This record gives sequence, C-alpha cells and structure tokens, in this order.
Amino acid sequence: MTIRIEELVDDRRVVICCGTGGVGKTTTAAVLALESARRGRNACVVTIDPARRLADALGIEHLTNDPTEIDQKLWADIGGEGDAVVPGGRLSAMMLDTKSTFDLLVARNAASPEQAKRILDNTFYRNVSGALGGTQEYMAMEKLHQLHDEGDFDLIVVDTPPTRHALDFLDAPKRLTRLLDNRVFRLLMMPTRAYLRVASVAVQTFLRTVARVVGSEVIEDVVAFFRAFEGMEEGFRTRAQVVGDLLADPDTAFVLVCSPRRDAMQEATFFAQRLAEAGQSVQALIVNRVHPSFGDEAPAGLRAAAEALRQSPGEPAARLAALYDNLADFREIAGLERGHIEALRDRIGGGTALAYVPYLAHDVHDFTTLHEVGELLFDTVTAR
Ligand SMILES: Nc1ncnc2c1ncn2[C@@H]1O[C@H](COP(=O)(O)OP(=O)(O)O)[C@@H](O)[C@H]1O
Ligand SMILES: [Mg+2]
Repeated sequence: MTIRIEELVDDRRVVICCGTGGVGKTTTAAVLALESARRGRNACVVTIDPARRLADALGIEHLTNDPTEIDQKLWADIGGEGDAVVPGGRLSAMMLDTKSTFDLLVARNAASPEQAKRILDNTFYRNVSGALGGTQEYMAMEKLHQLHDEGDFDLIVVDTPPTRHALDFLDAPKRLTRLLDNRVFRLLMMPTRAYLRVASVAVQTFLRTVARVVGSEVIEDVVAFFRAFEGMEEGFRTRAQVVGDLLADPDTAFVLVCSPRRDAMQEATFFAQRLAEAGQSVQALIVNRVHPSFGDEAPAGLRAAAEALRQSPGEPAARLAALYDNLADFREIAGLERGHIEALRDRIGGGTALAYVPYLAHDVHDFTTLHEVGELLFDTVTAR
C-alpha cells in the first residue's frame, strides 16, 4: 500500500533523505523536520552541508556535534490564518561533524581512557579519521544511532552526503566487519610476541613494501593505530549490527529526493537500485523543482490556436500567438517531466508515495520558505 507523505512526519521515527547533490536534499530534510514539529512532534534534523543562510535560520551556523533546540517562536508563528501549529512540538537541528562523532565512538568503545587516548593521539588516526572512504556516511549513521538511543526525539530526519557514495553507509557495517576480519589486520592486532612470530613473513614483507612508499614513521603509526584498537573489534562489530538493524526497522523510512531532469532521474534510479540491493525500499519519491503544468489543455490544441491567430491580421494577434506557443512549450516540458517521473516510479515499485515541489522563484533559507515548501509537498500528494 502506498503511504502518504504525512505518515512520514506523523508516524515514523527515522527518515533518511537520499539523492545526488544539488537536488534539494538538505532543504527537504529541514522541511520534513519542521512540518513534523508543527504537527506536535519532537523532531530533529541532522544536516550535512546546509547553505549558510539555512544554517543561520536553523541556529547551527557554528559547527556543533549536538542538537540545538530552535526557539519555537522562530518556527511556529509563520503560517497564515487557519494554519496553526499543534502545541507541544519541538524542533532541533545539528550539523554532522564527522571527526567528533568518530572520536566519541572510539572513546565509548575503548576498554580504558588510556586506550582511547592512544587512538585519538595517533597521527594516522588524526589524519585519516575524517577522510577514510565512507567515514562521513558511516558517521552520519552512527550519529543517527546515538540520537535515536539517547535523544528524546519522536522523529530524526537525516540528510546524507552529496555524492554517489552517500549510500556507502548501507555497506559500512559490513565493510567494517570485513576489515576487522582481514588477515593482515588480524596479524597486526596480535599481541606483540605472537605477532613477531607469525607476522614475520607475510606482514613484514607487506609492511616493508608499504614503508618504501610512504615512509617508516607512517607505518609505525599505522601499526600503532591498529594495535591500539585491540579488544575493540567486538564492540565495533556489535555497533555495526545495531546500526544495520535500525536502518531495517519498519519505523525507518527512506525518502529519495530528485529533480525531473533526465540525468537526475538516472541518478535516482541508481540510488533506488542501491537501496533495493541493500534490502531497503524507497517509501517516498520527492521530485523537487518541477515545472508547473499551467492548466490541462493539450499542447496540440494550444499550437492550433497559435496557428489560427497567426492567420489573423494585426500585431496583438501575433503577440497572442507567441504566448500560446510559449504555453504549449511549458505544457510539453511539464508533460515530459511527468512522463519521466512516472517511469521512475514504476521502476522503483508501486508502493512509493510520489510528491512534487514546484520550482520556486526564490531560495529556501528560512522558516517561512521552508514551510511554504512543506505545504506544497503535502498539497501535491493529497491532490493526486
Ligand atoms: N523547489 C525549490 N525552488 C527553488 N529553489 C530551491 C528549491 N529547492 C531547493 N532550492 C534551493 O536550491 C539550493 C540547493 O538546495 P539544497 O537543499 O542545499 O540541495 P542539496 O542538499 O540536495 O545539495 C538551495 O539554495 C535551496 O534554497
Ligand atoms: Mg545538501
């Protein structure tokens, strides 16, 4: 059964917004959290890269790794008449800080403060913890898990990084486990004596080769880094499992944001496939920046009217003919867009809710404009 977009903000506990960069993912995530708060829930949005003015509006212009509650006055009294908020709603926002989230994960999984310090002080860790492939994606999920466990939120909306790799978080738990099971890694993790014995051939050769390329201090750092993790694998593995379970929970929904342009549609198909491979389905497809339809007259009829006008004498008739042609162009574009979108929905599967947000003449960077998008979002759904 197809769900309604309203259900996402009214009933779900976690909503993850996916899609390529530039389609309006960050905007959509903020809109969904705002609308949920306006409907009386305690909502939090975790953003990745908000535009400066949006960050200002959300009160997170300075990077913090904990949610900031936004004063209700700023977001509750923005609707028109008859557009009141349900009392009791709360809205918080935070911007993901990959490094701090990773640090916290290490600190919590370490057996002792000394072990945590050994890792956090390690040069290799300091240099790569923010840049390792998939780290940002995985830390977004780690943060989600922390908020889900410790925050008192009814709904957490997560924005994802603006790349094709954004869905790497789906694999991150598996990848982490694979790394921990890796032979070289296991050898490096062995207590020193056993390590010297067993590692003498395979690992030493490997390390010597790597040392020639990157220098031996780096290698010492790397070895120290992996050694420092001793005993923490189990914690990481359990954590990865728990995050995987949270993503698979029926209270978690994936929303795919895209634009109606052909290349964006292709990207959206790719994202939907990746989600399907990971056993997740897209609950809602939000198509942002669609052209409005401007009525329902067929382009052919409009073109015929233009032609007839061109046969009539006089300048006003010619001008009107041009306008009819223009309208026919718009109707054609809107029709093509709808066609692409329906095809995409068919590819994704029948149960996906579909919503449109028109191309607005202005940016979306404050609560008034976010709410405007929210109303359009819910409106287009109920209208269909
Ligand atoms: N429907 C819309 N009409 C007009 N501008 C929009 C619309 N949706 C988003 N924008 C603007 O487009 C820009 C990119 O949006 P953003 O949400 O940051 O995209 P993403 O997170 O996918 O990269 C922002 O400046 C935003 O205000
Ligand atoms: Mg973004």
